[in-house]
Parts: sequence; structure tokens; C-alpha cells
Amino acid sequence: MNDGGRVSEAGDQGRQFGPLGTALVIIPTYNEAENIQSIVGRVRASVPDAHILVADDNSPDGTGKIADELAAEDESVHVLHRKGKEGLGAAYLAGFRWGLDHDYGVLVEMDADGSHQPEELPRLLTALKGADLVLGSRWVPGGRVVNWPKHREFISRGGSTYSRLLLDVPIRDVTGGYRAFRSETLEGLGLGEVESQGYCFQVDLARRAVKAGYHVVEVPITFVERELGDSKMSQNIVVEALWRVTAWGVGERVGRVIGRKQP
Ligand code: GDD
Ligand code: MN
Repeated sequence: MNDGGRVSEAGDQGRQFGPLGTALVIIPTYNEAENIQSIVGRVRASVPDAHILVADDNSPDGTGKIADELAAEDESVHVLHRKGKEGLGAAYLAGFRWGLDHDYGVLVEMDADGSHQPEELPRLLTALKGADLVLGSRWVPGGRVVNWPKHREFISRGGSTYSRLLLDVPIRDVTGGYRAFRSETLEGLGLGEVESQGYCFQVDLARRAVKAGYHVVEVPITFVERELGDSKMSQNIVVEALWRVTAWGVGERVGRVIGRKQP
């Protein structure tokens, strides 16, 4: 690993990586009726071999129904209907379980609102040929954000820096949500123990992957702020991220100190 932006270059460890199986693009949705059709169409056009799973938390605006209509006319599109809004983390955990149960070789995380451009997915998948996990990254050279309010950039950059320093994880964009996992990687992360609900779910998974010794690669992306609908970012999500990251960081340090005292 190095600390020059990317965690490390793809394939630079001399390790052999197995072939990539079929990809499942998991798209969590809560009130994305204005975006769902467009994002599904863009993924289908950009990566025709991939399947899509929309994980909808019973959106009051009828996103789940639109997704059902898209699934009815395209056998590569699937929908997971969940009871109600339980957060991004729970929706992804359910989506991962579904994807692993259905034997997909690659599981992709992607927002519904167009911020993660499906046209960049082939680049992430190419990098995954030589990695265990690929992170779409806004904060490595070549990565950028378009139309993001300054306060969001501040929170995101600050959150990434705080997490990187406290958790000792050499990742520039640790909160990003555009990712491609090999199925074996997800199976090795201990998903049953993940409790994070909001966006800190992303920090949680990245940290677990690094600690487990997986080969994690950051690939620059252009993150485009949504034009339609609203962000679900809230004060609660920021507070959860802050306390969890702090608790993980302090817990690890205490663990190391106690470990050192033992014979
Ligand atoms: N099923 C479900 N349940 N989906 C949800 C929930 C939920 O409780 N909350 C959010 N989502 C979905 C949204 O519908 C969208 O598809 C995606 O998760 C991201 O939500 P946004 O509300 O658009 O996120 P953002 O643009 O503010 O945040 C982005 O940046 C964060 C920080 O870097 C995302 O890329 C996040 O993944 C990222 O952590
Ligand atoms: Mn968004």
C-alpha cells in the first residue's frame, strides 16, 4: 500500500485475481421517483451484462411501483421491497444478501440520483480485475465534484480526513458510495456485525476491508450533484458518523494499548 491518494495501484501486489463474475448493481432508493427510470436506463446502456437490484424502502412517492414496472419489462432488473425507511446501511445489507444468495460475482453500490455516473462503471470494473474492492473517489487526483454546495464538500472532505487519521485507513474518499466489491470480499467483511445505518456504513465497510487486508483501489470519479429530488443527508446521519468513527478509533487505540501490556 502507499499513501499517495490511491490505496495502491491495481495488481501491484503480484497477486493473482480470479475472473469477475456477473455484476449486480444495487441501487438503494427512498423517494427517487423522478430519477429511477433514468438511472436504470443508463446502467443498462453502460454495462449491458450487469443486472440491477433496486432496494426500495417503501418510498411514499411510488418509486417501488415504478421499479416494478421497469422489472416487468426487463429480466435483468430486480426489486427488493423493504418495509419502511431503515437507512442506507440496512438497504445495502439486504441487497448484498440477495446478491450473494443469487451468486453474483460482483456487487456494485450506486446512488439513484445520477451522482454516480453509470458511464464511469466500466472503469471501476476494469480496476476490480486487479483488486478486491474498488472505490469511486472524489478526492484523488482526477476526481471531482460538480454542483456540490460548499458545505457538503466541507463535510465530506472533513469526514474523510477525520476518518483517515483516526482509523488509520489510507483512503482519500472513505465516505463515498460508488463502489465495486468482489463477492468474496463482501463475504469476508463480517456483514452480520455491521450496525451502521446512515452514510457511515460506507466508512464502516471501507475500514473493515482495509483491516482484513484486502487490496483496495481508489479510482477517480466525477460526482455530479442531483438535479431532481432531495438528498436524504440529515443531522442525525452526520452525528451517527461522528460518534461511530470516534468510537471505532478510540476502541482500536485502547485495544492496541491493552494488547501491548499483555505478555
Ligand atoms: N432504501 C433506502 N433507504 N435508500 C436510501 C435511504 C434509506 O433510508 N437513504 C438514502 N437512500 C438512497 C437515496 O435514495 C439515494 O439513491 C442514495 O441512497 C444516496 O442518498 P442521497 O441522499 O442522494 O445521498 P447524498 O447525495 O446526500 O450523499 C452522497 O454522499 C455521501 C457522502 O459521501 C452519497 O453518495 C452517499 O452514498 C455518500 O455516503
Ligand atoms: Mn445524492
